[in-house]
Amino acid sequence: MSSYQNKVKIDIKNVSKRYEDVDVLENISIKVCEGEFVSILGPSGCGKSTIFNIVANLIDYDSGSIDINGKLSYMYQKDLLLPHKTVIDNVSLPLTIMKEKKHRNDFLNKKEAREKVKNYFDTFGLLGYENKYPSELSGGMKQRANFLRTFVTCNDIMLLDEPFGALDSITKTSMQKWLLDIKNKVNSTILLITHDIDEAIMLSNRIYVISKKPASIKKEFIIDKDYYNDDNLENIMKLKKEILNLL
Ligand SMILES: Nc1ncnc2c1ncn2[C@@H]1O[C@H](COP(=O)(O)OP(=O)(O)OP(=O)(O)O)[C@@H](O)[C@H]1O
Ligand SMILES: [Mg+2]
Repeated sequence: MSSYQNKVKIDIKNVSKRYEDVDVLENISIKVCEGEFVSILGPSGCGKSTIFNIVANLIDYDSGSIDINGKLSYMYQKDLLLPHKTVIDNVSLPLTIMKEKKHRNDFLNKKEAREKVKNYFDTFGLLGYENKYPSELSGGMKQRANFLRTFVTCNDIMLLDEPFGALDSITKTSMQKWLLDIKNKVNSTILLITHDIDEAIMLSNRIYVISKKPASIKKEFIIDKDYYNDDNLENIMKLKKEILNLL
């Protein structure tokens, strides 16, 4: 599972990026294979979101190469719900827009799109809030709505930038479990940004630990679930220590 034997879905090779006078990324290489869950773990401000913005083709990079094999969805770190639309219309928006484009058949009218996303509201803890506006939601709920919108957009390759960052620990744990479960069912490829070591260990097949700015890869860890699990907390503690020492 954690080897490179599967099809490579994201291949970032020696990417560097500089903003005017600041070096942000230095020779970043990250590979993610089909069905893998890979985390990028690094300190605040080191350049993690910049990596995603480059992968999603939103910003340029200075050198290196990027190959993407499939369809991407991207959950931004900051929630971007439209204030004048209800929660259900925010969530189903990606399914209805771009009707005229070449994938016309993939897109639904408003009613079909609402039907499609409705069933997920329970799992995402948003049941009963379908017809509220974002301003009526808590921070965590906004984040879950944002997450749900990313999920319905496309679950081939998902880029998740700190999706659990603003959630309380109870909600966070249940959302993490839900994500793992869904991932196993649909075989999504997931690249996650986090600065939570426990979260990275719990969710990932592999973790890239990156340094502070300019970000470079410090070390790659393969998380063998037979070795790192709740029955072997000592192994997890050791790994956490090793990761902490790198950060
Ligand atoms: N458009 C920009 N122009 C100039 N500098 C930028 C720009 N965007 C980001 N930066 C700088 O690049 C560095 C990395 O930013 P980035 O948002 O990628 O960090 P991050 O690791 O995602 O941080 P956080 O953990 O706080 O989310 C920061 O020093 C930031 O100030
Ligand atoms: Mg960020």
